[in-house]
Amino acid sequence: MNKEWWRTAVIYQVYPRSFADGDGDGIGDLPGITSRLDALQELGVDAVWLSPFYTSPQRDGGYDVADYCDVDPLFGTLADFDALLLAAHARDMRVIADIVPNHSSSQHPWFQAALDAAPGGIERGRYLFREGRGIDGTEPPNNWRSHFGGPAWTRATEADGAPGQWYLHLFDTSQPDFDWSNEEVREEFRRILRFWLDRGIDGFRVDVASSLVKAEGLPDLDPELDEDLAPYTGQPGVHEIYRDWRALLDEYEGDRVLVAESWIKPLTRRAEWVRPDEMHQAFNDLFDDWDAPTLRRIIDDTLDAFSAVGAPSTWVASNHDTVRQATRLSLPRSERPNGLGPNSTGIASYDDTLPRARALALLTLSLPGSAYLYQGEELGLPEVSEIPDEARQDPTFFRTEGEQYGRDGCRVPLPWEADAPSYGFGPGEASWLPQPELWGRLARDRQQDVADSTLTLYQDAVALRRSRTLGAGHVEWLPGYPTHVLAFRNGNTTVLVNMGSEPAPLPAGEVLLSSAATSTTSTTSTLDPDTAVWMHA
Ligand code: GLC
Repeated sequence: MNKEWWRTAVIYQVYPRSFADGDGDGIGDLPGITSRLDALQELGVDAVWLSPFYTSPQRDGGYDVADYCDVDPLFGTLADFDALLLAAHARDMRVIADIVPNHSSSQHPWFQAALDAAPGGIERGRYLFREGRGIDGTEPPNNWRSHFGGPAWTRATEADGAPGQWYLHLFDTSQPDFDWSNEEVREEFRRILRFWLDRGIDGFRVDVASSLVKAEGLPDLDPELDEDLAPYTGQPGVHEIYRDWRALLDEYEGDRVLVAESWIKPLTRRAEWVRPDEMHQAFNDLFDDWDAPTLRRIIDDTLDAFSAVGAPSTWVASNHDTVRQATRLSLPRSERPNGLGPNSTGIASYDDTLPRARALALLTLSLPGSAYLYQGEELGLPEVSEIPDEARQDPTFFRTEGEQYGRDGCRVPLPWEADAPSYGFGPGEASWLPQPELWGRLARDRQQDVADSTLTLYQDAVALRRSRTLGAGHVEWLPGYPTHVLAFRNGNTTVLVNMGSEPAPLPAGEVLLSSAATSTTSTTSTLDPDTAVWMHA
């Protein structure tokens, strides 16, 4: 396995609940993933990132962890994890786990002990308990809001049954934030990292990486200020934690990695997470605008900011928190919510929106650095908006009393076989979210070895990206193209993406790959709107 593999890697995100179900309970699991690893090997990915599979009440799809060193029975056992890791390594694929250090589940034994303890007790000191404001402490300690809607504080009930202190949760009430100024918390996470590193994990994607440290005194949020400057975002002390973790990972052989989930802006600030003694990668810039000058600026700024600290850029088109690209890119820019529902408007028909998603895939996979794929994007899956209210699970929907749809629509179980029950997701009919009829048409077996399928496009792109070493290349913008066309060279490959509404001229030369749903060796002389090509330069 090559050294510093992460600099150019294609990393595939598996959301375990929705990838493949081995036991037929309607919820994906680790044996299900193991049984489908061949498909990921065929796709050609270098690594798999697993969203959380730890013991959890599943109030936030497993991002509410009750035991960091065990597998939730829903997903299997530690032995199933070991088997998955072995099977991935046997295929030369690495495995990265999601680590959730900002908060635990309220069912975590530490939090249960904190609730049982008196104010001021050491058990409470592992979390952020504070007295309320106002008469009798009936107001939350500060004005912070939960990312899922509503206040970021919940009032606990003391042992005598009286309303007591409040605890902080930047996400759901069931996800209390740890107090990272407490050395016991730091030590506990070192233990957790070692637990998985000893088992052979290749690294961690660090959830909510920029929020662990909160400003001294938990001051009110200035509503005029940008979220990036919030007292719980990017506090300087957070870097100390990752330096400590990096040193710990470096004790292990095999090029283990830390990847930050950090949306922080500007990009020069985000790059601070990947200085040589901190993490290896930081991501979360989704390409949100279908606009060539905007994307060109993002690409330039990203490459500049990350190369300045010697780190690779990472490119992500979709993940488990966003509307899938096959739907998102066609929504008006002002209407890009967390999720879509039966009442959402402005959703274009699937066949109209797919071309942009395919073109974006060719852009993402053509750039130097590392690329992330979110399960199902290789099948061109759209967001599922028709999930009925009673089937929804994402906390946002409940915390906003149904005003905002949550992220369920990008988490619908995958279609593997067009004619099987649950489209081959599991052995029976069960599926934790309802699957739409379109899954029959988009199932993997319908796309396998079909020349113009989205799956074939992704397979070809990943293979060409490797053979033409695009991940290790450079972007050199090409002059002479209309402003609605992104045009650059990366080594011996020319990449053109038409984001306008008019066709653009295509230079003479060999087309290696086209996102248009026709032959991959098209020789036409125009590049249609919403189309990308790779050409031999
Ligand atoms: C991250 C995860 C998201 C989760 C949140 C709270 O943003 O990607 O799914 O809800 O953290 O853990």
